[in-house]
Amino acid sequence: MNINNKIAFLGGGNMARSLISGLLKSGVEASQLHVSDPDEANRALLHADFAIATGSSNQVAITNADIVVFAVKPQVLKDVISELTIDANCTKLFISIAAGIPEPMIHKWLGFDAAIVRCMPNTPALVESGATALFANAQVNSQQHDTAESIMRAVGLTVWLERESDMDAVTALSGSGPAYFFLVMEAMEQSAIKMGLDAKIARILCLQTALGAAKLAIEVQQDPAELRKKVTSPGGTTEAAITEFQNGGMMELFSRGLFAAQQRAKSLADELGD
Ligand SMILES: NC(=O)c1ccc[n+]([C@@H]2O[C@H](COP(=O)([O-])OP(=O)(O)OC[C@H]3O[C@@H](n4cnc5c(N)ncnc54)[C@H](OP(=O)(O)O)[C@@H]3O)[C@@H](O)[C@H]2O)c1
Repeated sequence: MNINNKIAFLGGGNMARSLISGLLKSGVEASQLHVSDPDEANRALLHADFAIATGSSNQVAITNADIVVFAVKPQVLKDVISELTIDANCTKLFISIAAGIPEPMIHKWLGFDAAIVRCMPNTPALVESGATALFANAQVNSQQHDTAESIMRAVGLTVWLERESDMDAVTALSGSGPAYFFLVMEAMEQSAIKMGLDAKIARILCLQTALGAAKLAIEVQQDPAELRKKVTSPGGTTEAAITEFQNGGMMELFSRGLFAAQQRAKSLADELGD
């Protein structure tokens, strides 16, 4: 990975840890990274695991950084930014992974025309299989654009959004999406157990089926609807189940679920903002 910049992480929780681990694995030097976090025990762990600089001061962390990653919870981001003293002429890139905080709000809290990339990663980033959507404001130059992408690619796939307003749909799809798949797995497992299958066997078959289905869809690059039709023989077992799902309104239910998540993402931004 071609990142030569110094990167400061404000907040050293789960997501920062995944990004740091991914960056180090992809060739970034430990000396390029600095994490600030209030929890001393957490800082000691981060230092022990990754041999990176850690500290309790966000201001110290950002001093020599070219890139500042806001990896704190959305509820504390405003305070974290407001407490920083930053030269308005600086060329730092600010990357926010805080869910639900729009770029104009970060811009306002920073108080100058900063280069900002807003990202929406998801939980599988913790195992380097994340899906992250990124949005860059007009101040982000092409080098910063590439660097932001490289940082998030350290934990999985990345896509750029042209309109920040699409971030709410992304939140509904990939941000919250892992939980929908967990729910489907939960439902399938419970049904198998009801049919008399041993719980351990149900779990392992269910998980491998989920992984295999996703891998197949990615590798053959076919429309999921086509893939489904291919494995659904007329009069067969799969068709019996799919017919039940469709008659039960599963497509409409998912549509309503994702719409509810999108609406909630919109309202969260209002609750978290000024
Ligand atoms: N985890 C995910 O899958 C996921 C997915 C999408 C987006 N995100 C976003 O990623 C961000 C981080 O999530 P996370 O799961 O990594 O949360 P997390 O594990 O709670 O990490 C946040 C860290 O920030 C620390 N912190 C609190 N106040 C701070 C301050 N003033 N200055 C510096 N650090 C401070 C926290 O310390 P204490 O615990 O001691 O308070 C904690 O170690 C969130 O904004 C979230 O919306 C996460």
